[in-house]
Amino acid sequence: MKISIIGAGNVGSALAERVLTRNLADVVLLDIVEDLAKAKALDLSDASPLMGYKKRVLGTSDYKKTADSRAVIITAGFPRRQGMSRDDLIHKNGEIMRAVLKNIKAFSPDAILVVVTNPLDIMTYLAYKEIGGERRKILGMAGNLDTARFKALLSQELGVPPEKIETFVLGSHGDTMVPLVSKTLINEKPLASMLSKERIRELVKRTKKRGGEIVALLKSGSAYFSPSAACFEILEAIINDAKKVIPCSSVLKGEYGINDCAISVPAKIGKGGVEEILEWKLPDTELIALRNSAKAVKDILDKL
Ligand code: LAC
Repeated sequence: MKISIIGAGNVGSALAERVLTRNLADVVLLDIVEDLAKAKALDLSDASPLMGYKKRVLGTSDYKKTADSRAVIITAGFPRRQGMSRDDLIHKNGEIMRAVLKNIKAFSPDAILVVVTNPLDIMTYLAYKEIGGERRKILGMAGNLDTARFKALLSQELGVPPEKIETFVLGSHGDTMVPLVSKTLINEKPLASMLSKERIRELVKRTKKRGGEIVALLKSGSAYFSPSAACFEILEAIINDAKKVIPCSSVLKGEYGINDCAISVPAKIGKGGVEEILEWKLPDTELIALRNSAKAVKDILDKL
């Protein structure tokens, strides 16, 4: 069982380390900068006697080595810099994505693709268009990251361990994302019964800005520990055929009244990729916010 990670930058290499640490699959780490991928792979394999890795890692710039991957994770592209929105990356990263997708289509036509490159929902839809075929095979990781961020903030605020918190963040990976306050339970009690409206609004706002908060502090580059962890959970659900419900950017065909774009919705993830999109009944305010989020993504898609 092999997976390929395209892009040996911070997210790609952190993800490779997670996959090896959990013995999930052999890893091919590919970067157009061959020496970078090779160096990271050598460094990781030197850690195996210490960490007990049972799987192997290979660094390369040759797509032939990625052939017949079970899943391919695309992290290649420019990260955000301070003051940039994720959407500022659309043309540069769109070009990179097209080149990557051509190779994936040639060497791993059956792989499930997990998109990490920003602007995430745009790149997920682009992947669907370029690869063709069934939409279930293409997904973007961000709903899971945004959900983890909201959960982490709630956990700190309330002093409750994350596993006692149920919440979902849907919509686009950007300012219009939709934390589902109506579906947020703390120890099975509604969030609204535990925090003031005002405080919930503040935490929602901080969740939306969390990626930018980290970009501003890092000065160059963007977050990678939590993005790689969000990606790992999805990958694990695919490899283990877990049928786990994870909010992922998925291509929509009428679900929630949304068509022809990708945004995060609750998705059942298993060996087939997005095996089912769950259509939950949402209060009007959240449904409208979700549709507005889709519209914001579509407006940018029109420019590509
Ligand atoms: C973030 C970038 C990866 O949200 O989009 O941190």
